[in-house]
Amino acid sequence: MPRAEDGPGVTELIAASPPLDTNSAYCNLLQCTDFRETCILAESEGRVVGWVSGYRSPARPDVLFVWQVAVHSDARGQGLGLRMLDELVERPAAAGATTLTTTITEDNQASWKLFHAFARRRGAALTKAPRFEREAHFAGAHDTEFEARIPL
Ligand SMILES: CC(C)(COP(=O)(O)OP(=O)(O)OC[C@H]1O[C@@H](n2cnc3c(N)ncnc32)[C@H](O)[C@@H]1OP(=O)(O)O)[C@@H](O)C(=O)NCCC(=O)NCCS
Repeated sequence: MPRAEDGPGVTELIAASPPLDTNSAYCNLLQCTDFRETCILAESEGRVVGWVSGYRSPARPDVLFVWQVAVHSDARGQGLGLRMLDELVERPAAAGATTLTTTITEDNQASWKLFHAFARRRGAALTKAPRFEREAHFAGAHDTEFEARIPL
């Protein structure tokens, strides 16, 4: 679980992990404190190398929403992304959640592969539908975000 002191390291990792949207330092501080029970920080030799942010949807507490996943480029391809997601759904703060959701742009193949692999390992089917659309929700400034849903 992250602490407030981890905020700057998280902001730095996300900024170094395109195509993720960058966050304000303040956003990451809130995640590291108010939402820490549904966030995961991975460190190696004192450096932040992995991060998952999430929360229980206020309107749908049965939904565990994963906001961002980032693994430092030096630490990719070793199963860390999957390991963090596995850990997240086992947390006491995830108890009772029946669905994991996240949103992914069509072209983010690494992210689709990660969530498909997570679903496959659990014997679950991933379903996909547009959630925030380019024109209607981003005023043309951002690709459509597709919601991936995985039963837990
Ligand atoms: C996406 C990301 C988190 C994956 O982290 P990772 O620790 O390298 O992922 P893992 O090693 O756990 O791999 C999980 C699965 O995804 C696949 N995968 C991961 N990166 C991939 C890539 N670039 N291309 C193809 N497949 C990839 C792996 O092969 C594995 O699947 P498998 O079990 O079927 O072999 C990392 O690449 C990253 O931080 N990218 C930049 C930020 C981003 O796009 N985040 C996702 C948005 S939510």
